[in-house]
Amino acid sequence: MTTLETYFSLTSLLLLFVFAGRVQSAVFDVKNYGGKADGKSDISKALLGAWKEACSAKGSNIVVVPKGTYSIGLTDLNGPCKGAMELQVQGTLLAPINPSSYAKDSWITFAYIDQFKLSGGGTFDGQGQVAWKQNNCGRNPKCKRLPVSLRFDFITNSVVQDVTSLDSKNFHVNLLGGKNLTFDRFTITAPGDSVNTDGIHIGHSNGINIINSNIATGDDCISIGGASEQIRITNVRCGHGHGISVGSLGKTTDEFVSGIFVRNCTFYDTDNGVRIKTWPALHGGMASDMHFEDIMMKNVRNPIIIDQMYCPWNQCNPKLPSKVKISNVTFKNIRGSSATAVAVRLNCSSSFPCQKVELADINLTYGGKEGPVKSLCANVKPTLKGKLTPTIC
Ligand SMILES: *[C@@H]1O[C@H](CO)[C@@H](O)[C@H](O)[C@H]1NC(C)=O
Ligand SMILES: *[C@@H]1O[C@H](CO)[C@@H](O)[C@H](O)[C@H]1NC(C)=O
Ligand SMILES: *[C@@H]1O[C@H](CO)[C@@H](O)[C@H](O)[C@H]1NC(C)=O
Ligand SMILES: *[C@@H]1O[C@H](CO)[C@@H](O)[C@H](O)[C@H]1NC(C)=O
Ligand SMILES: *[C@@H]1O[C@H](CO)[C@@H](O)[C@H](O)[C@H]1NC(C)=O
Repeated sequence: MTTLETYFSLTSLLLLFVFAGRVQSAVFDVKNYGGKADGKSDISKALLGAWKEACSAKGSNIVVVPKGTYSIGLTDLNGPCKGAMELQVQGTLLAPINPSSYAKDSWITFAYIDQFKLSGGGTFDGQGQVAWKQNNCGRNPKCKRLPVSLRFDFITNSVVQDVTSLDSKNFHVNLLGGKNLTFDRFTITAPGDSVNTDGIHIGHSNGINIINSNIATGDDCISIGGASEQIRITNVRCGHGHGISVGSLGKTTDEFVSGIFVRNCTFYDTDNGVRIKTWPALHGGMASDMHFEDIMMKNVRNPIIIDQMYCPWNQCNPKLPSKVKISNVTFKNIRGSSATAVAVRLNCSSSFPCQKVELADINLTYGGKEGPVKSLCANVKPTLKGKLTPTIC
């Protein structure tokens, strides 16, 4: 045998072993369950049919939505399943347009699945244009909640990879009770003026990774709510939208957040870069161990901001200081351009001043009329390291 032949026979032998060693896996194509790629007929029954068979079959199974455009109504894909599950969406799924046709506040929900993979290069199109015009939730607390595009409830040891979420009516993605869940090469797109189209909202979750992703929305790029721990956001591009936010915390209950790592991210034309926000007066809790490092800002209104007086639409008594404690926060190697003169704002609570805040190697420039670039601080004595522009307080 030539070297090349030896190589090939060796690799095929290896492959044979790999397949023999693997658990059997089968493919369940929605087209075999009546799913039509005509963009009109609802494939939710077909998808659910394929899902249920795959979920109850032994081994690791794959449900496939092939290339094409499909219409799909409200769908819940639930576990637990017998083995690992993959949903490959290769085509485009279209949500119902009319928000009043939704019986609940989500479009597609994945729940109670372990070892799940969502992949395929396809798109979840929330078709939110009509709903955004009806959204008055900012002013009207009794408004009807618009549906979230994708809910992941109690998903563990799982990956979402090479998928796009487009034009959601409300949040694009909501995580609840997630554990060891990674979003990789995930794309989120909605216009800058679309209301409440947060990219990924994380709550009550532990071990969430968002990597190599591109998020442009009308609201927060990623927001991290109460009971979230060990959240790692790396190589993410945010913009347009409102940036990455921890909070808002302390509105309805005492809230605890810890272990937030935002690294090597870029923010373009966003309202905020990295933000921590808590409500005055209401509830307590603690936000700690939050680290923001190697970040580029391009034309960002508030590149670095801690706001413990967060109170939009006068929903609180702003005279009473926040009871949420903030501690162990670092902002390191953050550079680029601010769209306002105040590039760094650390507005901490007078009842519970921020503890152990460190800034190192900050270089934020501002070229506008209200310059020079500056920082404002209240109730915080940060540790300063390296070269700092603006000078910090
Ligand atoms: C986390 O999930 C991934 C993907 O399923 C898996 O490969 C990995 O082993 C899990 N990690 C732990 C600590 O369970
Ligand atoms: C940081 O992100 C850029 C893209 O924005 C990427 O090219 C680079 O490889 C990343 N660096 C690391 C260390 O991950
Ligand atoms: C700050 O947070 C980091 C990361 O969680 C942790 O390793 C470190 O011990 C914390 N420092 C203090 C002083 O709490
Ligand atoms: C800060 O950024 C400006 C503009 O990009 C650059 O000209 C300047 O050299 C930087 N300063 C430091 C200390 O890196
Ligand atoms: C903190 O927030 C309050 C309320 O918005 C504002 O009046 C005050 O100027 C802010 N302080 C700083 C340092 O940003």
